[in-house]
Amino acid sequence: MIRQQIETLRRTLELHNYKYYVENAPEISDFEFDRLMHELQALEEAHPEYADPNSPTRRVGSDLTNEFRSVEHRFPMLSLGNTYSLDELHEFIERIEREVGQAEYVCELKFDGTAISLTYEEGRLLRAVTRGDGRRGDDVTENIRTIRTIPLTLQGEEYPAYFEIRGEVLMPYASFEKINREREEQGEALFANPRNAAAGTLKQQASAVVARRGLDCILYQLAGENLPFASHTEALHEAARWGFKTSDAARLCHTREEIDAFIAYWDEARKGLPFATDGIVIKVNDFATRRRLGFTSKAPKWAVAYKFKAEQALTRLESIDYQVGRTGAITPVANLAPVQLAGTTVKRATLHNAEQIAQLDIRVGDMVYVEKGGEIIPKITAVELSQRSAESQPLQYIEVCPECGTPLVRYEGEAKHYCPNTNGCRPQIIGRIIHFIRRKAMDIEGLGEETIELLYDNHLVEHIADLYRLQAVQLAPLPRLGEKSAENIIRSIRRSKEVPFERVLFGLGIRFVGETTARYLADHFRTLERLMEASREALVEAEEVGEKIADAILEYFADERNRAIIEQLREAGLSFEATARQQASEALAGKSFVVSGKFSIAREELKAMIESHGGKNLSAVSGNVDYLVAGEKMGPEKRKKAEKLGIRILSEEEFMALIAEGEAARPMAAAEEGAQAAQEVAAEEAGAAKELAAEEVIPAPSATDKAPIAGEAVQGSLF
Ligand code: IVH
Repeated sequence: MIRQQIETLRRTLELHNYKYYVENAPEISDFEFDRLMHELQALEEAHPEYADPNSPTRRVGSDLTNEFRSVEHRFPMLSLGNTYSLDELHEFIERIEREVGQAEYVCELKFDGTAISLTYEEGRLLRAVTRGDGRRGDDVTENIRTIRTIPLTLQGEEYPAYFEIRGEVLMPYASFEKINREREEQGEALFANPRNAAAGTLKQQASAVVARRGLDCILYQLAGENLPFASHTEALHEAARWGFKTSDAARLCHTREEIDAFIAYWDEARKGLPFATDGIVIKVNDFATRRRLGFTSKAPKWAVAYKFKAEQALTRLESIDYQVGRTGAITPVANLAPVQLAGTTVKRATLHNAEQIAQLDIRVGDMVYVEKGGEIIPKITAVELSQRSAESQPLQYIEVCPECGTPLVRYEGEAKHYCPNTNGCRPQIIGRIIHFIRRKAMDIEGLGEETIELLYDNHLVEHIADLYRLQAVQLAPLPRLGEKSAENIIRSIRRSKEVPFERVLFGLGIRFVGETTARYLADHFRTLERLMEASREALVEAEEVGEKIADAILEYFADERNRAIIEQLREAGLSFEATARQQASEALAGKSFVVSGKFSIAREELKAMIESHGGKNLSAVSGNVDYLVAGEKMGPEKRKKAEKLGIRILSEEEFMALIAEGEAARPMAAAEEGAQAAQEVAAEEAGAAKELAAEEVIPAPSATDKAPIAGEAVQGSLF
């Protein structure tokens, strides 16, 4: 029977997938695996009636746009108490022993990725949900299916009929570096670290993209009702038998000394792991003991995370380069003797500015400590003075631009030096063009940094307006392009003429005018003409515009060359006028809002709604505010202040109702579609950030909370 044939193939492929990806011990050749996969694909295509979302053929993902439904966790995903101090860790153990006597502990690595909860029903992956705020997360099942180490169907028959298993989605260093290399080539923003990359990838809209990103997943906790285990080690052991990837590093420890030794070992050994870890998690092993210890409102009392100090490496500072950014800002960059740090080879580090160099008294030839912060490029944190040579000289900061020789200037209140030769300095010119084509600005695809440099050096594009004069025949002969890409680029340039005014304004690259300011300016002045004519006084009247920004705007438009470029852009047909598109209705006209807390949609999306319905967003609660839209976990101070000022506090539902009422009262013919698009952009941008922020958010106890805390509500069944 066809159906049976399909099912056998699926089981076989899933088993070999496990042997290859989880056990790293393939039993059949890649060729044979592919052959079986093609056979299954062909059968599934011929028999769509037997389609199954958990078929191994689905692991390649699809290009369809994913929607991330917000889902309530059946058992909240709690956080862990953490410490950087061994003394505090010892106190944790003493407290436990005071309460329950001698206990057994499992020490595990603390994986530095993004948490996930997988639900299995009858041995099949049903759902995968991100941690979100701990109570609700996003349904990312389609994307999770593409991770090869996550079983779509379980092995054996002894698994519970319904359970959740939790773990960490990781991006191994190798995948991380590959992706960042590709992004760099494409002129896209780089991921700061593997954690951001993993979280960002899980929120990708096309699962086919996720499939190519090389994610991995290690599971470390089960949750469910009536799980038949007495201890964590037992549960992990069983989970591994069902086909989950668990960690080999987990150890059972009985004494403080054993725990300390585990920590000391991994603090060093983790440097050789293929993925990022940021500490050790110490958990009581026995579930009955766990139940006796219980939970605080935020975290279990039976577990704690010991966090490693950021890894440091000592290496020689060989020379300093001075980079010139698109605004002319000079960034000193240290060239280092290559050194291994947190999984990657480090050759460069940022030095920020002259002041920082002076403060640390950094000199060429010094042995320096480097550390990875949240940023992409590591930083120098200290100099090892004991190794400084007697001849070493304090560093002389440059006085002229390394690219064009113009004397550098410093603006008041700015730590950086600037090259003022805005229109004659190559990296500034190229940087501005690259900024202009960015996704958040004109979104011109297919043009990376290298192509822009080529176009500039071949005198095809000297400023942003030249892009609109380009022809495919000029592009096609350039290295790595060819006719097809050339045509795609030209099409993308043509399409960019539809980009709304606020993004064009952002794309111009006026100093200090970021995305948000550009939006406010577009809203306030409505046309570029009016913005160009605005006086300093008129400029500072606009939301979010202070004197510094106002001066930068005046300076930009005072430059004849900029005015000429703008004229050419106008002729090319770019949008220099805020259209009704920004206005979905006038429902909230004249009203000011503060939005705070977490909502079922991204906060940025909610703010975009306020604006698109004519309202204004303010950042702080004050007498000027009409409404405070209060989400989950809004700070109590904000609420108190709003109550004192008599500001109406709205829940998300009340806010939506307010718009609906307003719309009914004040209808307006609006281009709904455009407003929707603006919201989508905002939501997309907010997406990954929201997920990252959630990592540290602790679910607050709530009287109305329906979900039982794992191990509390369902006596004797969970841990
Ligand atoms: S156990 C009740 N084990 O750390 C808490 N968490 O700070 C259950 N994490 O959200 C978590 N490695 O994302 C546990 N071996 C490990 C872990 C681990 C990483 C993460 C997890 C959690 C966060 C808590």
